[in-house]
Amino acid sequence: MSNSNHTQAAQDRYFMMLAIEQAKQGLYTTRPNPAVGCVIVQAGMVVGQGFHPKAGQPHAEVFALKDAGAQAVGATAYVTLEPCSHTGRTPPCALGLIEAGVQRVVIAGLDPNPQVAGRGVQLLEQAGIDVTVGVLTEQAEALNRGFLKAMRTQMPYVRLKIATSLDGRTAMATGESKWITSVAAREDVQKLRALSGAIITGSETIVTDDPQLNVRSTQLGVPAEQVPTPKVVVLDRRQRLAHNAQSEYQLCRRADTLYWRKDDLAELLRHLVSEHQCYDVLVEAGASVAGSFLCQQLVDELIVYQAPCLLGAAAQPMVNFHPLSLSEQLRFKVSSHEQLGPDLKLTLYPL
Ligand SMILES: NC(=O)c1ccc[n+]([C@@H]2O[C@H](COP(=O)([O-])OP(=O)(O)OC[C@H]3O[C@@H](n4cnc5c(N)ncnc54)[C@H](OP(=O)(O)O)[C@@H]3O)[C@@H](O)[C@H]2O)c1
Ligand SMILES: [Zn+2]
Repeated sequence: MSNSNHTQAAQDRYFMMLAIEQAKQGLYTTRPNPAVGCVIVQAGMVVGQGFHPKAGQPHAEVFALKDAGAQAVGATAYVTLEPCSHTGRTPPCALGLIEAGVQRVVIAGLDPNPQVAGRGVQLLEQAGIDVTVGVLTEQAEALNRGFLKAMRTQMPYVRLKIATSLDGRTAMATGESKWITSVAAREDVQKLRALSGAIITGSETIVTDDPQLNVRSTQLGVPAEQVPTPKVVVLDRRQRLAHNAQSEYQLCRRADTLYWRKDDLAELLRHLVSEHQCYDVLVEAGASVAGSFLCQQLVDELIVYQAPCLLGAAAQPMVNFHPLSLSEQLRFKVSSHEQLGPDLKLTLYPL
């Protein structure tokens, strides 16, 4: 690589990082749309920036181009996802970039949405714009795991969250479990919920905990009211629960709670994508439901909040499953670990 190419590659990464920072501002509010950011650079200076704030509102490129005004002519646009080529609720961004006179477009990754899928790049190239694809792809894709997985496979990205003690216990034998982990850990769970189109729980958790499973944090960087409410799904094959305005359980009083009566969890996940546009799914349930998701290999990411306490051998396990030999164990790769207040947070990927 020549020196000037080297400098350009480093500059591209730097400005793409700024575009990713822009995209992050929409992380909790764009669902079911992806979080996207855009930065316009003229002669090494940022002259415009923007992000997609919410479904139905303009895309990142529109805000960035408006911000840049006439300085977009001959500029380079950095976008965290391929500019769209279809007319949805807003006109195609690829055309917007062409009309604004942008000379070069740098894209972190292609949009697997079948309505775009390379056509955005094609439009730009046909207009004589120099296009570079593949700058900080991993970092940009990490913002939209659910959207990207759903577009590619019609299945959502599934996170399983479990709060445990040091000895891996999730509740006392009586069902008592409030609270094992600290306020700091529970505040972090609010972020997982805010990322999610749907939250799946088990009927037993409803009966023992009567949870709200809502987003109510004041520490998301945006008001909780601006976060689209995650759809709550209750797994209830025996039909013990149903919507009832007078129910003793908060989630049963809510008319939008979905009751899943079938055994097939993969079918539920497909249903959440096709019928409800839920691309990020959070499982927050007891050991039985956690076991079913893990054993059926439906989990993409396991998040464990571990409190430094011991609850003893009679307390409930982390996962209900019964391997007969070590060869049947479930193994994970640790992706990250951090301390939240007194607790540990582990993020793991099933192997
Ligand atoms: N520490 C934590 O992170 C955490 C989180 C949530 C809950 N909890 C605690 O967990 C305890 C409840 O745990 P749990 O294991 O009894 O309840 P659970 O996993 O929340 O719910 C179990 C129920 O879900 C239903 N279900 C439907 N489809 C299922 C499937 N495919 N696989 C498994 N279950 C399915 C079953 O009822 P049907 O047979 O009628 O379908 C089952 O009885 C409570 O004490 C609660 O406090 C802890
Ligand atoms: Zn667009």
